[in-house]
Amino acid sequence: SGGPQGNWRAPHRVLVTGGTGALGARVARWLAGHGSRELVLVSRRGPEAPGTADLATELEDLGASVTVVACDLADREAVARLLADHPVDGIIHAAGVLDDTLLAELTPRQLTHVLRAKAESAAHLDELTRDLELSVFVLFSSVAGVWGSGGQAAYAAANAHLDGLAQARRAAGLPATSVAWGPWNGGGMV
Ligand SMILES: NC(=O)c1ccc[n+]([C@@H]2O[C@H](COP(=O)([O-])OP(=O)(O)OC[C@H]3O[C@@H](n4cnc5c(N)ncnc54)[C@H](OP(=O)(O)O)[C@@H]3O)[C@@H](O)[C@H]2O)c1
Repeated sequence: SGGPQGNWRAPHRVLVTGGTGALGARVARWLAGHGSRELVLVSRRGPEAPGTADLATELEDLGASVTVVACDLADREAVARLLADHPVDGIIHAAGVLDDTLLAELTPRQLTHVLRAKAESAAHLDELTRDLELSVFVLFSSVAGVWGSGGQAAYAAANAHLDGLAQARRAAGLPATSVAWGPWNGGGMV
């Protein structure tokens, strides 16, 4: 939802959340190959995430400078520090977690776990970049938020929140695109 962003060009400096994860790494490669020159890859484990050193080398070979940062995006102050330390022109929000269970068995802890990674973190990125001139603000959503998915009530809610956030941002004249992906082939969560 949120519609296509016209005249899309890869921003020079991009923050990729979940940038050390399966899809985040793919996006980072794509960005580096399409002109982005400064990539900030963020996850809770940051440089400790498996394969990150190789990924950084690969991206640097494509001509991008790479910074890998450990940051829990559900921590608002940490996100504020991240954005202050690493000014960017665009954001790709691909962080997320799964914690599947049947709705009747869903605990508040599980709900919080899933919402924090995708929805609360997106809210922080939205609120803390309102004064910046971002050219892109892309949210990695899921079809689970559109038509539901077995055992994924929390995940569906988190993704529906992203879709709503994109609509609210665009209504406010801010860039936003929420992409409700189906399952990707080859790695990552579903
Ligand atoms: N793969 C698919 O088929 C598919 C389909 C539809 C939508 N999506 C969406 O695409 C996005 C990427 O999925 P993926 O398959 O690449 O999953 P993944 O490989 O598990 O990557 C998720 C990333 O998010 C990071 N993360 C989780 N919580 C975080 C937090 N609180 N703060 C910072 N980073 C956090 C994880 O790293 P740490 O654990 O180190 O924090 C990891 O790097 C997700 O939003 C997912 O919902 C994926």
